[in-house]
Amino acid sequence: MKSLIVFFGLLFTTSYAKYRAVTLINPPFVQKNGEEVLEGFCVDLMRQVTQLNGHNFSLYLSPNGYGFNFHGKWTGMVGELLKQRADIAVADLTINSDRKAVVDFSTPFFESGISALLLKSQTNQIRSWSDLANQDNISFGILESGPTRRAFQSSEDPVIRKMWRMISSNSSNFVISYTDALRRITSGKYIFIGESSHNEYISGHRCDLTTIDSGLPHDRRYGIAFPKNSPLLQSFNLAINHLKANGIISELRRKWWRSQCK
Ligand SMILES: *[C@@H]1O[C@H](CO)[C@@H](O)[C@H](O)[C@H]1NC(C)=O
Ligand SMILES: *[C@@H]1O[C@H](CO)[C@@H](O)[C@H](O)[C@H]1NC(C)=O
Ligand SMILES: *[C@@H]1O[C@H](CO)[C@@H](O)[C@H](O)[C@H]1NC(C)=O
Repeated sequence: MKSLIVFFGLLFTTSYAKYRAVTLINPPFVQKNGEEVLEGFCVDLMRQVTQLNGHNFSLYLSPNGYGFNFHGKWTGMVGELLKQRADIAVADLTINSDRKAVVDFSTPFFESGISALLLKSQTNQIRSWSDLANQDNISFGILESGPTRRAFQSSEDPVIRKMWRMISSNSSNFVISYTDALRRITSGKYIFIGESSHNEYISGHRCDLTTIDSGLPHDRRYGIAFPKNSPLLQSFNLAINHLKANGIISELRRKWWRSQCK
């Protein structure tokens, strides 16, 4: 495997192809360092991959989000690939069947689940997801749209089904953004349920908050996306597998998710 990677590296190093990569700001996957410079887990990942395969790339920000099929027209990073404005989409972009029908995904570089984000003081009463489902003193909810909502709607798990009935019984349990979620949590009357790597990052910076993992499989996977039949797919897959096997991806994860709380 290793020698094959070196081979790809040599092969492409001579051409210095410059590819356009679209991304999206969502710390710590991608964040701004000052006005112009982008940094984060995905930026480091791209550097590592391109060091292996010799590609050169430029990054630009998605004009409108991740990418949803809106009445047959794809928005966001997926739309950028389909309109041939980008060769690569790299961010915390969830691999799903809708997207896979129109673009190719690399092997996953990150796996994530769902967790609850709450005040540390609330863990006196609530220690697990079943505690959460069996109380109605503190309301809880999710983002109005996105993968967490879809996961709740389709879950067969009895605790999740009960929680979904409770959440969906009152529209004020839905929040429209993470900012909205944090404001509600801080008020002490709300627990937010969402993507675990995001919640972990927040609780590493907001030391009054903590997370409770759902205990369910971490089945949300992020991949790098390409237009269908992209010649880049194979060399990216080789590079990602190599970085996983060598512990570099875990190292990047530790670097960008390091907690600032004691
Ligand atoms: C990649 O492109 C940048 C900007 O054009 C250039 O400065 C840099 O030397 C290139 N790197 C490689 C390895 O070609
Ligand atoms: C709900 O609140 C009441 C009154 O504050 C308290 O007695 C009860 O223990 C709480 N129940 C749970 C499950 O937290
Ligand atoms: C919905 O939740 C809000 C906030 O917790 C509460 O004020 C309101 O009474 C609830 N509405 C219903 C119909 O239960």
